Amino acid sequence: METYNYKVVRQFAIMTVVWGIVGMTVGVFIAAELIWPQLSLDMPWLAYGRLRALHTNAVIFAFGGSALFATSYYVVQRTCHTRLFSDALAAFTFWGWTLVILLAAITLPLGITSSKEYAELEWPIDILITLVWVSYALVFFGTIMKRKVKHIYVANWFYGAFILTIAVLHLVNSAALPVTLTKSYSAYHGAIDAMVQWWYGHNAVGFFLTAGFLGMMYYFIPKVSQRPVFSYRLSVVHFWALISTYMWAGPHHLHYTALPDWAQSLGMVFSLILLAPSWGGMINGIMTLSGAWHKLRSDPILKFLIVSLSFYGMSTFEGPMMAIKTVNALSHYTDWTVGHVHSGALGWVALVSIGSMYALIPWVFNKEGMYSTRLIDTHFWIATIGVVLYISAMWISGVMQGLMWRAVNADGTLTYSFVESLEATYPFYFVRLLGGLLFLSGMFLMAYNVYKTVAGTTVTDIEVAQPAH
Ligand code: HEM
Ligand code: HEM
Repeated sequence: METYNYKVVRQFAIMTVVWGIVGMTVGVFIAAELIWPQLSLDMPWLAYGRLRALHTNAVIFAFGGSALFATSYYVVQRTCHTRLFSDALAAFTFWGWTLVILLAAITLPLGITSSKEYAELEWPIDILITLVWVSYALVFFGTIMKRKVKHIYVANWFYGAFILTIAVLHLVNSAALPVTLTKSYSAYHGAIDAMVQWWYGHNAVGFFLTAGFLGMMYYFIPKVSQRPVFSYRLSVVHFWALISTYMWAGPHHLHYTALPDWAQSLGMVFSLILLAPSWGGMINGIMTLSGAWHKLRSDPILKFLIVSLSFYGMSTFEGPMMAIKTVNALSHYTDWTVGHVHSGALGWVALVSIGSMYALIPWVFNKEGMYSTRLIDTHFWIATIGVVLYISAMWISGVMQGLMWRAVNADGTLTYSFVESLEATYPFYFVRLLGGLLFLSGMFLMAYNVYKTVAGTTVTDIEVAQPAH
């Protein structure tokens, strides 16, 4: 038996690539539907409204989730110098999570949804998610409890906060009254329902799409660059500041709504404060490379990791700006939000996951390295150009839409009709589609490279492939 449980890490690592391709293919398809709505072939299960939720669920929970499971299980074992707490429970998390994803892929196109964004799945699936998540928490914290070293490495703090917070968010936001197997009504009503939903939604960003990936960053950047974390003290300050601030920022999703004004302003202020811990983390990650900048030239994995941090810094600057009420008055409902989302989701979450997978896969499959470094480098450039095309198109179209919608003539009538703003948006939808296609083609390169790596020669001595700890 291997010293560590790498089986579950291998399973989740492979599924990261598979779900990445599936989720992004759906993303590309819906991007095309916005240009050619007839692509739905008039079939309800191909309708934009249904597939959009399939896209978000597939990329966040299937792709991002698998990357988080794979890396957290690897990191917690290596840094605690012990095997996972329970192999059976770990296996249950893999098969249970896979079932959740398959059920999402069936129910969402059928139009079965709770209609809460990022929490669309209906109550029976919610119960399955709860079971998987409790098992995940038991495996993760059980492993921390039986660790052979006194210290708990900072990456585990971030993973731990992500696991605990998602449990709380899921339980509170999914509280509902079931009426049939496929239909339930939220336990909350009106403005309270909206507040709970965006407390959930924003912290899903903060903990699912950020804290867990920061855990990844704190392990993989030092490991791949072979440098210690720039400042361990900063990492601890960063941790506490980030998790205590994120909780309060949710109302920035509900500016100018029925939410009490003071709650909106509170959300705005906490969003502005959030800039500091976010940038603290980014700086800590980037500065870890001090003295080893030359490695960026030759190691494309490091390029993925460091460029992901630049996008993280960019989206966490943009977010607080968009949270300012007067800026939000322009950006809300426009493509600017979609641009912001993807600078975080593609630029940060996807790039850091891809980089980490390229490092992790040879380690857990006992290979000397990835099959082709050249292909990783090509992937890096295709992906980066793809993200830049995607987000710059959305920024321009977003600001344009906001300005067109608010333009008024001297007599007080609107200067543009909505359809005119839509027509003006088409060229940007094309550029976004192109960016998405580029990003997706990079994922296919990755799949090929991973396949060749896994099928290639195995290093018999496990410690040759493993980094030292
Ligand atoms: C090939 C890559 C991708 C393409 C082409 C793509 C495309 C799209 C499109 C067309 C939308 C709908 C926008 C709208 O309603 O106007 C969308 C929404 C969204 N996507 Fe993606 N996407 C990609 C990758 C990702 C990834 C990797 C993530 C997360 C890790 C992600 C997260 C989201 C989220 C959260 C939304 C909802 C945004 C909102 O409600 O404001 N996407 N995507
Ligand atoms: C300091 C950090 C951040 C702040 C203060 C922030 C703030 C905001 C604001 C103000 C909005 C627009 C709300 C609206 O008008 O509806 C927004 C939307 C969004 N942000 Fe961020 N953001 C931050 C970082 C990030 C990161 C790193 C990601 C992704 C990894 C992300 C993902 C999203 C998503 C998915 C939405 C769209 C939600 C929806 O309407 O469906 N944000 N954010």
